[in-house]
Amino acid sequence: MVTLTIINKTGITMTARALQLALRQLELTLAALGPDIFPGDTSTRQHYLPRTLNGAPPGANVGWTSGFWTGQLWLGHAIGGQAPMKAAAEQQTSSFIARLEQGVDLEHHDLGFLYMLSCATAHHLHGQPGAHAATLGAARRLLGRFLPGAGVIQSWGTMDDVEQRGRVIIDGIMNLPLLHWAARASGETAFSDAARSHLQRTRAHLVRPGGSTYHTFHFDAENGAPLRPSTHQGLADDSCWARGQAWGIYGFALNHRHLPDMQLLDDATRLADYFLAQLPPDRIALWDLSLPHDSGEPRDSSACAIAACGLLEIAEQLPPGAQRQHYRSAALDLLEALTQHCAGQYPSCGGLLRHGVYHRAADLGVDEATLWGDYYYLEALARVEGHWTPAQL
Ligand code: GLY
Repeated sequence: MVTLTIINKTGITMTARALQLALRQLELTLAALGPDIFPGDTSTRQHYLPRTLNGAPPGANVGWTSGFWTGQLWLGHAIGGQAPMKAAAEQQTSSFIARLEQGVDLEHHDLGFLYMLSCATAHHLHGQPGAHAATLGAARRLLGRFLPGAGVIQSWGTMDDVEQRGRVIIDGIMNLPLLHWAARASGETAFSDAARSHLQRTRAHLVRPGGSTYHTFHFDAENGAPLRPSTHQGLADDSCWARGQAWGIYGFALNHRHLPDMQLLDDATRLADYFLAQLPPDRIALWDLSLPHDSGEPRDSSACAIAACGLLEIAEQLPPGAQRQHYRSAALDLLEALTQHCAGQYPSCGGLLRHGVYHRAADLGVDEATLWGDYYYLEALARVEGHWTPAQL
């Protein structure tokens, strides 16, 4: 495996150079959009435009991905100290506080993505007034989605939505750090009890014996009976959607920090081994891991960026030794592939990471930059360069 500690001709590591380029991209897109505009979930013809979702005004703070934009700006500020990024991130964090107060588009489980990357980070980095209370408020809303009879947090829709009631998606475990944060902040064990139960059921029903994952699973909301697996963005109900697998790797590893007795690192490594074994020679995953490498189908770079963070997190939590070195090398290998094949650069691309896919079957954001791909690419680079770890939050 190649490692990114190679010093290039300019005397800096490849990750440091990639980080410089990523920060420059972020700076230019921020300048193009303005501080208070939230970009779309993905780029449009390789550049971000103000988001237009659900009839909200252009650039409004709606949807599940706006926190990845604010999160990138906070990371950018934490890494490089850029004042315009801090000012924009602060302004956007205020918008998240208002969003919670006004109850705008919060009927889903993605409150963890939205509030950990905006408000929890703002509180951690500079104690922004209102950010702590908003993070706790968001956690209470997430806890409100817990179905005690089923022992899971419902992922999508209102709690009386017959289609979505009792449905869980693998991505959901990435939102649980919000509950762990709230358990610590409030001392209330209900937050971590719900996280533990959700993880147990996810591990039992969404992870297959060989270490691949179902995208979604339906439980009886009242008595918890396991009903059936399904997919939303994958190739088929029994395929392995690449980004779902990546969410699983990083999600189990992050939760291991908070619930070490559950041995979730074992799940994270099994999922990681499966993911790595399915990669094509260029190391950029196809959007579904079940697709043949020569199918001509698009790659999803965002899955690799998330997986790289997950591999770094696994390595950080393993004791020193060969296994730890193996997962760290695998993370660096993925990062090298991403910087080589996918790094965006103005003027042709405004994103940090090209070649992502949002939803192939719906023809949404195919071969575009994605806000989450950009965020996790930046986070992985920042982690390798020693600027950031989510364990700080
Ligand atoms: N969590 C939704 C997605 O990854 O598209």
